Amino acid sequence: EQTPPALIMIFGATGDLAKRKLFPSLYQLYLKGSLSNQFAVLGVGRREWSDSRFKEHVRDSLHASSHSNDLIEAFIEHCIYQSHDVADSNSYIQLKTQANELDRRFSLEGNRIFYLAMAPEFFGTITDHLKQDGLTDTDGFCRLVIEKPFGHNLPSAAALNEQIRQSFSEEQIYRIDHYLGKEMVQNIEVIRFANAFFEPLWNSRFISNIQITSSETLGVEERGRYYETSGALRDMVQNHMLQMVALLAMEPPINLSTDEIRSEKVRVLRAMRPVEGKEVDEYFVRGQYDKGIMNGQNVDGYRDGDNVDPASNTETFVAGKVMIDNFRWAGVPFFIRTGKRMAVKSTKIVVQFKDIPMNLYYNKEHSLDPNLLVIHIQPDEGITLHLNAKKTSEGVNTQPVRLSYSASSIDGINTPEAYEKLLYDCIMGDATNFTHWDEVRRSWSFVDKISDHWESTTAKDFPNYESGSMGPEGSFKLVADEGFEWWSVGELDENSK
Ligand code: BG6
Repeated sequence: EQTPPALIMIFGATGDLAKRKLFPSLYQLYLKGSLSNQFAVLGVGRREWSDSRFKEHVRDSLHASSHSNDLIEAFIEHCIYQSHDVADSNSYIQLKTQANELDRRFSLEGNRIFYLAMAPEFFGTITDHLKQDGLTDTDGFCRLVIEKPFGHNLPSAAALNEQIRQSFSEEQIYRIDHYLGKEMVQNIEVIRFANAFFEPLWNSRFISNIQITSSETLGVEERGRYYETSGALRDMVQNHMLQMVALLAMEPPINLSTDEIRSEKVRVLRAMRPVEGKEVDEYFVRGQYDKGIMNGQNVDGYRDGDNVDPASNTETFVAGKVMIDNFRWAGVPFFIRTGKRMAVKSTKIVVQFKDIPMNLYYNKEHSLDPNLLVIHIQPDEGITLHLNAKKTSEGVNTQPVRLSYSASSIDGINTPEAYEKLLYDCIMGDATNFTHWDEVRRSWSFVDKISDHWESTTAKDFPNYESGSMGPEGSFKLVADEGFEWWSVGELDENSK
């Protein structure tokens, strides 16, 4: 289905996100014919760029995906630039004139999307002006898209939310969590609710534990300044990791409407057992990367990075045990872990089933492997079931076998990038894969208790894991204390076999 006409106004249009994700995604939608031809991209930025300079910039950003130059040129005709001062009303009045002009030129019907792809300290100022200076005053729809971080903790998120809500209603706000745009994250719900196999077993009677790993090989790179105020807990757990927990743990919604799915997710977040004070040490482990060797190269530790305090207490790794205190999940640990500079770049979910009641096949060489459902989020996309089967021509000896479905190879094309799907959804007015204030609020309140404890105590053992490892000892102990082990994400990888 094609999008309705719309003006897409991108604040921060000269920045990194716009270049890496937004222009290429819009162009892909355009190529596929998903984007209505009645569209315009109004790039807004502090720099004094001419329109042709901007067009050149957009063209550069598309280079990798270019097939036909005519199409690129036709797309770029719809991209216009306006330099801008976020704090100056006159600047917004100029923007308004420009927007109205584009409305006429491209028949946009007054539909507007304001995409804030920039530092969050300006969010409130911009939304205030958008309303006061009349940019939201149109006959069409107005929507606001905001990137993370949405606040730094609950109080700052609440203050930001309150300010934005002066100008936009909750229904108009699209908070991006790019994990919700990932193909296999969206697939979690379908795997669960479109199959007879899983749902009857999807509870504490049959599942022993669930593991969610999102490991990265990159370090903090040039983002030291941001990261020092964030750390892995705020950067990854508050949003991406807890969103995946919610999708895995939620009850079946009564239908697939945004509100129904959201309210089920919120119920999970409400059921998460809060941990605070000293208790945090029983449930969560923090880590910070030391120097090490990656791909044969020596790499520096976190504390040696630019804009990082040489005695920094910031965590670059988190492992945790999340308990969901409801009827379905009582007693089932959801283990989560995420970190920078780990051995592999991989996001995987492992659902581990309980052992069968009695093992008829046990002998000294074999015990039975547990059944697993592995959801491969990235780099490979798909699902794998780990089963036991008879070992060919060996009596009743068993062997573990894997049944795999690869989502990216099924139709031979690359799955669309998360941003492409999220932009499309937003123009279509579908907020299902965006986070509602209720979810943001709950996840901050869970995470704040952990960061409060960590900030009140110095991590004496930092740095505590080598670059290129799978994190600190404590993470393995956390899982072992419950009688489990982390499944190795590298070995589960379909491409690594
Ligand atoms: C972002 C974090 O939200 O997610 C980054 O700010 C992190 O620090 C990134 O690297 C990971 O995303 P992906 O899609 O590469 O797993």
